[in-house]
Amino acid sequence: MSKKLYIETLGCAMNTRDTEHIIAELRTKESYELCSDAKQADLIMINTCSVREKPVNKLFSEIGVFNKLKKEGAKIGICGCTASHLGDEIFKRAPSVSFVLGARNVSKVVKAVNTEKFLDVDIDYDESTYAFSEFRGSSYKAFVNISIGCDKKCTYCIVPHTRGDEISIPPELIIQEARKAAKNGAKEIFLLGQNVNNYGRRFSSKRDEKMDFSDLLNMISEIEEVERIRFTSPHPLHMDDKFLETFANNPKVCKSMHMPLQSGSTHILEEMKRGYTKEWFLNRALKLRELVPEVSISTDIIVAFPGESDEDFEDSMDVLEKVRFEQIFAFKYSARPLTKAAEFTNQVDNAVASERLKRLQTRQNDILDEISSSNSKNILEVYFEELRNNGMVAGRSDNNALVQVEGNEELLGTIRKVLITNPRRLALYGEIVK
Ligand code: 5AD
Ligand code: SF4
Repeated sequence: MSKKLYIETLGCAMNTRDTEHIIAELRTKESYELCSDAKQADLIMINTCSVREKPVNKLFSEIGVFNKLKKEGAKIGICGCTASHLGDEIFKRAPSVSFVLGARNVSKVVKAVNTEKFLDVDIDYDESTYAFSEFRGSSYKAFVNISIGCDKKCTYCIVPHTRGDEISIPPELIIQEARKAAKNGAKEIFLLGQNVNNYGRRFSSKRDEKMDFSDLLNMISEIEEVERIRFTSPHPLHMDDKFLETFANNPKVCKSMHMPLQSGSTHILEEMKRGYTKEWFLNRALKLRELVPEVSISTDIIVAFPGESDEDFEDSMDVLEKVRFEQIFAFKYSARPLTKAAEFTNQVDNAVASERLKRLQTRQNDILDEISSSNSKNILEVYFEELRNNGMVAGRSDNNALVQVEGNEELLGTIRKVLITNPRRLALYGEIVK
């Protein structure tokens, strides 16, 4: 008889893929089926994120809620980055939790469900981290891990402590996975890693070949059934000319680039240990716009990092004006345990942080309105992936704009030309022309 699994996923695309791995393992080896109602579940899991403080604080109240509603005998398991970072403390604060599995240890999920108070948050390299059973949340797009962990030492970031050192997955495994997904109908391959364009820096075992991320992109694009390749996240520091040119010239590589700025101030970038300057970032972004005029560029920005002066903040605003990002994810700095910046004594006042965040987002909204209205009457190639319940079908243009048209499931999995008739800030509405 099958058992039921309810799993909640927070955080980034890496977590989304880890959740797919967990589902696959539990499905094939323990005959669990996914369910969407926690009350019915035999196992409730939370795949956590620890990048900011708020969701971490919410974890324990959430466990309390699940405790009340879960059925008799159902287990609760915590995995992901907060599991890595809090480890044993989770059992102490929430004795009802049956197992704690770190972000680098999800391959042990079968053992975890069968062992009382199982704890594994080791961040050492483990070959089994990328050998999994098969499950994909979407049949149109396949997430494929190309590396795990992160070698950078950004002073605000907890991730190196939760996901460990950076290891590149051997190219033949990546190609094999991409090929299999494409044969099963995924026209889009979405490559995942903390620093994708640092690919090839270190493999798990000694290997002779020298290969980098550009080589990998070209290899994947040779798979006939693959029509689109996306990736996240690249690091601005490693955006050399070879990478930008491969991005520009390979027609299967989608023309949207995430360039996490974090701060526009060279001084703050130094304090963050990002390894680049404001000028380098602008140079790369503007070169990208020159090479690929239709490119869309998204970014992450942290406001009120310790010591950020008004002048430093103006530098971030200045980059916003110069690059005109198609999308930004902006956050107030949040001090994280185990990080260097948490020890900095010049933390910025919360009221100042809120005001800066608001200014940044207000200006960005205006920029976005201008960008989206310039899409009016454009024809975009859209890959349809999702049926909405308002009679609309949604997909992404090559440069990652969210496009919606009236239609039905026949559009799903197809790439069509769409005339944009009603461009809005959050989505472009249009009509199929071909
Ligand atoms: N405070 C605020 N934002 C953070 N990020 C990472 N660490 C922190 C932190 N301590 C943001 C960065 C990163 C994104 C995933 O989360 O902008 O790119
Ligand atoms: Fe969150 Fe970062 Fe972990 Fe992703 S890698 S789940 S963003 S802490």
